Amino acid sequence: MPGSSPRFLEKAQTLAADEVFLDLEDSVAPAAKEEARANVVAALRDGDWTGRTVVVRVNDLTTRWTYRDVIEVVEGAGDRLDCVMLPKVRGASDVAWLDVLLGQIERANGLPEGRIGIEAQIEDARGLVAADEIAASSPRLETLVFGPADFMASIGMRTLVVGEQPPGYGEGDAYHYILMRILMAARAHGLQAIDGPYLQIRDLDGFRRVARRSAALGFDGKWVLHPTQVEAANEVFSPSQEDYDHAELILDAYDYYTTVERRGAVMLGDEMIDEASRKMALVVAAKGRAAGLSRTTEFTP
Ligand code: GLV
Ligand code: MG
Repeated sequence: MPGSSPRFLEKAQTLAADEVFLDLEDSVAPAAKEEARANVVAALRDGDWTGRTVVVRVNDLTTRWTYRDVIEVVEGAGDRLDCVMLPKVRGASDVAWLDVLLGQIERANGLPEGRIGIEAQIEDARGLVAADEIAASSPRLETLVFGPADFMASIGMRTLVVGEQPPGYGEGDAYHYILMRILMAARAHGLQAIDGPYLQIRDLDGFRRVARRSAALGFDGKWVLHPTQVEAANEVFSPSQEDYDHAELILDAYDYYTTVERRGAVMLGDEMIDEASRKMALVVAAKGRAAGLSRTTEFTP
């Protein structure tokens, strides 16, 4: 939500999104940056953000705004903030800078040290190439976020439609390597991986198509820019009822056979399941439970 719009900051409090980020970066015009900081602090202080992860995106380190963004927002409303999002991260030292600054502000203001997390946006070739060192850069780091718009611009990808395949490239998915690179760095360091925006806000089919791609690979979520995208994102990133039921069945069956019958590899219908199946089922079951699904089948030995 653009920090320059008090109306949007109000609206954000009503949406069924797991996280809301209040933006000081690219959705805010240069002339409105200072005012946006004040709006964001006021919205964090006075708004009702219950049940959501609350994040502020500051400007990137090549601008003149970043340090004041961090200081004003954290001094003004640090106790209301879960994470700071740093855009256009190019190396571990970018995140280290933010980590140190946050620590100083926390200490000076009596805030618990280390509580505020960091989300790092990977938005250009340097950031992608340094994804591993970025992922290991700070204990505050919680999430790597793919920024497709800036990324496509920075590598010279020949398209104007963010997240869609560039015309002329019929060989596969032009984003596969980028998404996998970010996902591997995130998972290797126990972080969340989040896919960025889809700008054609009236094209929900397009949004779903692009969201399914990162959801299928294992990403934890995707940005939404408009209320209509919220429902579509929740649907795409939740397992189907069938997969959720299946996952819970695998967990129950595996538990029963390994403990009651003391067997490690067993049949569930036509499928052989073992410890690795249990791990796969745990992923799907956890996502289903988080999405509020309930079981429609029970396990019977
Ligand atoms: C998001 O910040 C993007 O550049 O896609
Ligand atoms: Mg960007």
